[in-house]
Amino acid sequence: MKLKKGDKLQVTIQNLAFGGAGVAHHQTDQGNFVIFVDGVAPGEKVEIVINHIKKRLAKGYVTKYIEYSKLRIKPKCPHFGSDINDQGEIIDAFDKSRNCGGCSWQFLSYSDQIKIKEKIVKESLNRIGGISENDLELIMRPIVGMETPWFYRNKMEFSFEYDKSGILNLGLHLKGRHHDVSKIEQCFLFNDWIGDFLVKCRDFFPNIKFDGTWKTLTVREGQNTGEILINLAVENGNIDFEEELIDFILKSMKGKNLKSLYLTQIHNKKGTRKKIEEKILWGKAEFQEKLFLEDGRSFIFNVTSQAFLQPNTKQSGKLYSLINQIADLKGDEKIFDLYCGTGTIGLTLAESAAKVIGIELNESAIESAKKNAILNSVDNISFICGNVTEVLNENVGEADLVVVDPPRAGLNEKVIKTIIESNSPKLIYVSCNPTTLARDIKLLTEGGFKLEIVRPIDQFCQTYHIETVSLLKKID
Ligand SMILES: C[S@@+](CC[C@H](N)C(=O)[O-])C[C@H]1O[C@@H](n2cnc3c(N)ncnc32)[C@H](O)[C@@H]1O
Repeated sequence: MKLKKGDKLQVTIQNLAFGGAGVAHHQTDQGNFVIFVDGVAPGEKVEIVINHIKKRLAKGYVTKYIEYSKLRIKPKCPHFGSDINDQGEIIDAFDKSRNCGGCSWQFLSYSDQIKIKEKIVKESLNRIGGISENDLELIMRPIVGMETPWFYRNKMEFSFEYDKSGILNLGLHLKGRHHDVSKIEQCFLFNDWIGDFLVKCRDFFPNIKFDGTWKTLTVREGQNTGEILINLAVENGNIDFEEELIDFILKSMKGKNLKSLYLTQIHNKKGTRKKIEEKILWGKAEFQEKLFLEDGRSFIFNVTSQAFLQPNTKQSGKLYSLINQIADLKGDEKIFDLYCGTGTIGLTLAESAAKVIGIELNESAIESAKKNAILNSVDNISFICGNVTEVLNENVGEADLVVVDPPRAGLNEKVIKTIIESNSPKLIYVSCNPTTLARDIKLLTEGGFKLEIVRPIDQFCQTYHIETVSLLKKID
């Protein structure tokens, strides 16, 4: 029988894939179909309806849980997903106070989450990266988990949306729905004051007259400094609410360490080029975060509103410690830190090297990186603002170590080619996407690198996201 949209099937979930979905297999006359299903745990037997098919891949949504997975636990957060009644039916699936899209793996114990993440990295490197299971047994080190996997984020971005009755809402996007938000009053990923603050915002913003579009409210808080930066983003419109906004934020943040309030206006009109205008409404351009490394050193980082900072401060201390450890520096090395953000990785390596050069696209991140070098008394580091693909050239050949920490899309082929053609003997690849990591590792190993160490490190507890650090060496 041909598999088609609307078909109802019973399937058993084999495992979870990167992206969070469960994977099931279904045999038809046309061959085996791989079906992705959200909101399920490994081993679960579910009734699904197929809603998407492409070649031998399909997607389905659950209509009934027939047999639960032994791994399933009761989620901690009241806003997490739908619940299941005694008959195995989903209840409250469309209740907007539930189904928050903020984290998707709360129905698994933390120890199972990290085991599954380790497995996903291993399988990606084997299936996409072409690394044999035997080699992976030798190369892969156990995942670095978090002791307390809650309240760990230093940044949350909340979105504004109008509901069906025209009321302005603010919250996190619902699972799989980009034009609807969950009115959360509690969040176990950020500091626990955020729930009350969101409730106040939902009272404040609908009463402000504004002819543009409310977009997002981003809140960043240094986990080790308590310093806060808030950024409201709007699109178009005439802004005459600045004083009211400042007054509201200052009152709401009373007793907290607010350092900076930004207003970002996106000018997006038909026929003109999109322009983003950033204004500091109150306070300084940056907030600071402090990072502790396992070797006892600590670093202070200045972070502007648009600059990237690893979202889990505690785990990023472990991440940078791991990078320092596997870099195994002797003191005379020249290092390229590509996609360097605010300079964090390079700054932690500089003390044990001769020279570090950081390359980063975001101008304000580069400004912060330069300040960070001064703040941490590091004088053997310099930064170039530009696109790695364009800035990176044969100079990379002089490097004894190249560190790359690209966005989820991974490295592009030109960057990989430049690194392969250079004389750089050592490469550390920090990745937040095991699929693109595996794709790039395949090209790098075909180009003469050998994969020596792989270690996942959990930066995104309760979610499917995975961070991995890999060490590659050039074969002579
Ligand atoms: C995953 S972050 C890594 C930041 C930094 N290594 C850290 O640990 O904080 C990726 C960074 O790459 C930058 N980026 C994205 N595309 C880039 C490109 N083509 N060239 C240079 N930098 C880029 C982003 O602005 C972001 O700061």
